[in-house]
Amino acid sequence: MSRATFASRLGAVAAAVGSAVGLGNIWRFPYETGQNGGGAFLLIYVLSVMFLGIPLLIAEFTIGRSAHANVSRAFKMLAPGTKWYLTGVMGMLVAVIILGFYTVILGWTLCYTWRALTNDFAMTVATAQTVDPQLSSADVMAADFSAFSSSVWSPILWMAGSILINAVIMLGGVQKGLERASRIMMPALAVLLLILVVNSCLLPGFAKGCEFFFYPDFSKVTGRTIITAMGQAFFSLSVAMGIMLAYGSYLGDNTKIGKTALSIASLDTLIAVLAGVVIFPACYSYGIDPGKGPGLVFITLPNVFMQMPGGYAMCLAFFMLVLLAGLTSCMSLFEVPISYLQEEHRMSRRVATMTVALVVCSLGVLSSLSLGIGSGVTVLGNNFFDLADKLTSLYMMPIGGILISLFVGWRLDRSITHDALTNWRNDSGWYLRPLIIGLRYVVPVLIAIVFVGNLI
Ligand code: PFF
Repeated sequence: MSRATFASRLGAVAAAVGSAVGLGNIWRFPYETGQNGGGAFLLIYVLSVMFLGIPLLIAEFTIGRSAHANVSRAFKMLAPGTKWYLTGVMGMLVAVIILGFYTVILGWTLCYTWRALTNDFAMTVATAQTVDPQLSSADVMAADFSAFSSSVWSPILWMAGSILINAVIMLGGVQKGLERASRIMMPALAVLLLILVVNSCLLPGFAKGCEFFFYPDFSKVTGRTIITAMGQAFFSLSVAMGIMLAYGSYLGDNTKIGKTALSIASLDTLIAVLAGVVIFPACYSYGIDPGKGPGLVFITLPNVFMQMPGGYAMCLAFFMLVLLAGLTSCMSLFEVPISYLQEEHRMSRRVATMTVALVVCSLGVLSSLSLGIGSGVTVLGNNFFDLADKLTSLYMMPIGGILISLFVGWRLDRSITHDALTNWRNDSGWYLRPLIIGLRYVVPVLIAIVFVGNLI
């Protein structure tokens, strides 16, 4: 990894926020919540962030800043001669598999940004309604999305475009600039979401949408709901696979690890919750099923913008900000396999970037096709897209989470943890004891129970 990239402390925190806030908040969280019954899912999600996500984030920052190295090297340094470094290898695999579907959604976002720019949503609805005036704009956008996502070439080309943009950024050394920009973009995204929340309050389906999103109906909770919410929490915070560990190695010596983790998790959760408050009332206002799946955001939001005053500009700004948020997350995912190939296989950055881009592109083609002509090809009932998604968030990330918490709880020298969390005994570190107890017993046991419960 080019260790100069995030030389400054601000850069490291910005990079971590950039990694956490992404399509996971705006695209994945609302559709998972919609498919898993609403309020109860939200509650389990927030509890997972608080009791599993934040301790893991602190654990990763602690390992990273103590070793000042990337993920597999960090384990080799802190636990030499052991197999702990395999946690890093698994993290690399997780990153590549996630990229295999994340870049498809980033491609959709790129396409929708272009369509927002060319005012294509309004035109599509108008054209469809001249043929059949009975059609609602929600019906048109749903049919339009389904035709787009299940077609062969268009989503693949947009995905390839998104991979190309990533590769150019990774090679061009403008990554730091982008991370800096995301320090302005993330608050801008939050402000835009707040405006949309105000708009949401004026929609006829506001009360129903909020009831669905906030009222926990526990009759809808199954083992699968719990593991899905937990996996979403890990996915959204970018924990349990070593990315935050790598960013931790760039944190300055006087950065308060606990406070930083708490702020990142709060901002990330806030953005996800705001996205929910925007999307669910819109679903009930326009007659869109909240359990619609991965297309939910892409069907709902154009409808919201089409009826809003100033909707054209808002729509464009929104998709651009989501695109940027997705790009910074995608870059953090790319960095893991690229730096691995550079360091472990002595490849140049250029060759490593091209290799990873090619592998990701191939996986992306399979993911994209599996939503259309390839939907009949399934493994254990899952198409390729779902397989990649579930394999990482329901299986590999929970295992990564268990390993990381066990490592800091049991294996890492206690004085290292103490130094990291008190900044070499300059701060009180009052949460050190509960944190260690949490990482030793609570976090691994809870994840293991949920994980095994789901298997059974
Ligand atoms: N956290 C990102 C998001 O919410 O979009 C996605 C992600 C990035 C997941 C990095 C995992 C990861 F390691």
